Amino acid sequence: MPYISQSFIDDLPNQIDIVDLINKRVPLKKSGSDYRAPCPFHGGKNRNFAVNAHKQFYHCFKCGESGGAISFIQKFDNLDFVEAIETIATECGLTIEYDSNSTPVDPRIERYRALSKKVGEFYMSQLRNSPAKAKAVDYAKSRGLSGEIAKRFELGFATPSNKDLLLHFKDNEQELADLKTLGLVKEGQYGDYDFFRDRLMFPIHNAKGNIIAFGGRAFDKEVKAKYLNSSESVIFSKSRELYGLYHARKNSRSMDYMLVVEGYMDVVALHQAGITKVVATLGTATSTEHLQILIRTTNVVVFCFDGDEAGRSAAWKALQNSLSVIKAGATFKFLFLPDGEDPDSLVKKESAKAFEKRISKAQTLSQFLFDHLQAEVDFNTIEGKTLFLEKATRLIKLVNYKAYQQQLMQGLAQVVDQNIDQVRSIAEQQAPQAQDSSAVYTDIDVDYEHLDEIDMSSFSDSRHYPPVRKPPASQVNMKALMSKMITLLLNYPTLADSTTEVRVRAIENSQVLLELVRSAQMNEDISQSELIKPFQDKQGVYNRLQQLCTLEPRLSEVQARDEFLAILTAIENQQKSERIKSSIHHAHTLKDQQKIMKGILKAKRKA
Ligand code: UTP
Ligand code: MN
Repeated sequence: MPYISQSFIDDLPNQIDIVDLINKRVPLKKSGSDYRAPCPFHGGKNRNFAVNAHKQFYHCFKCGESGGAISFIQKFDNLDFVEAIETIATECGLTIEYDSNSTPVDPRIERYRALSKKVGEFYMSQLRNSPAKAKAVDYAKSRGLSGEIAKRFELGFATPSNKDLLLHFKDNEQELADLKTLGLVKEGQYGDYDFFRDRLMFPIHNAKGNIIAFGGRAFDKEVKAKYLNSSESVIFSKSRELYGLYHARKNSRSMDYMLVVEGYMDVVALHQAGITKVVATLGTATSTEHLQILIRTTNVVVFCFDGDEAGRSAAWKALQNSLSVIKAGATFKFLFLPDGEDPDSLVKKESAKAFEKRISKAQTLSQFLFDHLQAEVDFNTIEGKTLFLEKATRLIKLVNYKAYQQQLMQGLAQVVDQNIDQVRSIAEQQAPQAQDSSAVYTDIDVDYEHLDEIDMSSFSDSRHYPPVRKPPASQVNMKALMSKMITLLLNYPTLADSTTEVRVRAIENSQVLLELVRSAQMNEDISQSELIKPFQDKQGVYNRLQQLCTLEPRLSEVQARDEFLAILTAIENQQKSERIKSSIHHAHTLKDQQKIMKGILKAKRKA
């Protein structure tokens, strides 16, 4: 992507009128040499917000927000730097100048893409030519897939053999090594084998149309993992890719909305019914990155979830992640299907037209927000209403797009039938959150004082855990941190991936967490009770895990990931320093100690 030239950015303030630009969003009144308004950032009634045309600068005397035109648009419209410049240029009729700087490319990327393309072609040819193809063809037919749609999505077949793919690439060592990196070939006790066997194959394309990964659907009901995905790699990250985005762009005339569904099969079936503006996440919750991509693609994102409990909770997660992402011109909507139906089943049952009608009638974000929270409290009591106000303002404060935040506050005031200023004052009284995750976290905060009363040794799952009299502070801390990580993982199983697995494995006494990470990776939709089931016959561990299940952190997926990784790093650092301390302690001579110290200093200098 080309960069905007620095000289254009530097000259921008001279080319525009900041008063004009802000006045379109916040009506200003002339006052002395400034223009004034109530501050759009912190609210309030007084005209604390001043814009100075001469200095091309704005400043709020109460909350201290200040900056130039670009920073105002960034904050008010919730845009990134480049988007803000583009917005200003459009509004002021300027043409942006770009630098023709190209970004360096990792040489592996081209290689992996070329290989993935070949693999895709191989699976496709197997669907046409393999002697075992009948099973796959019959399955596709039983799901109502037409030949045309199978071709559009380049569907393929991984045969029941465990070496077909391997043999196809056997003469090229580099390709074989790359197949392993991409997770398409695995190393086993008895030699290498194909990862995907006996499955209908869905190639996953990036937005440009390159194949970057695969999903495979099992034919038989008894198979444990209904879908498998190939591994994350430099060309594939689940939290950044949307299945069907390429096909949506290619087969739709406009992008006036984009439907977000849960499954591969939903995307494919909707295409077959003529509904092409549709993507699916890849078995994960909708991430902030997904949302950013979506609002770059369309103005109206419609989340479509099954009408069951799991669907509602996935929708609620999507809503929470959407709040901070919304910006000028972007709308999020929510469509709930009847219980027991998914888009694939429903579009087959009713017509495409009826389904499109559902899309057009999707709930707005604010409706869903208020409805969901009202259902969580007893709205007819003062106490319930108070709780409702608390919860709603906390969420509304996550909205970075100020104009929308104001509208939501207004809407909230109407719902509770109160004056907007009263609602605002409740919001202002609340302790800050988000950045300070401990505030969001209060209900899972560990009671450090009484930690040694809980048998935390259970987390090591080691029968030979030494009897601890009074554990040193660092150890207590470590166990508290471990509890937090387990709680996070139980609530957000998608935190588990191969990188975390490697890191957790390297931590001492982490067997329980490690086992949870492994199970969560195998099935991201796994329930908490399924996750902890393997520990059922270890009473101490199981009881403690059950306790941790009841703690529910109110974090977005992104916040949870940040928290999880921060704790992991903290534990790694702590264990490293413990190891060093103990090696110094166990050094027999002064000379040995000095040698260790020297080593540490050297390592530090290098870092
Ligand atoms: P669903 O369980 O809703 O299945 O999974 P589906 O898409 O309706 O599949 P069909 O109709 O039974 O074939 C939704 C999505 O979750 C991921 C896949 O991306 C799937 O499309 N998933 C599901 C997995 O990754 N692994 C699984 O075992 C199950
Ligand atoms: Mn389905």
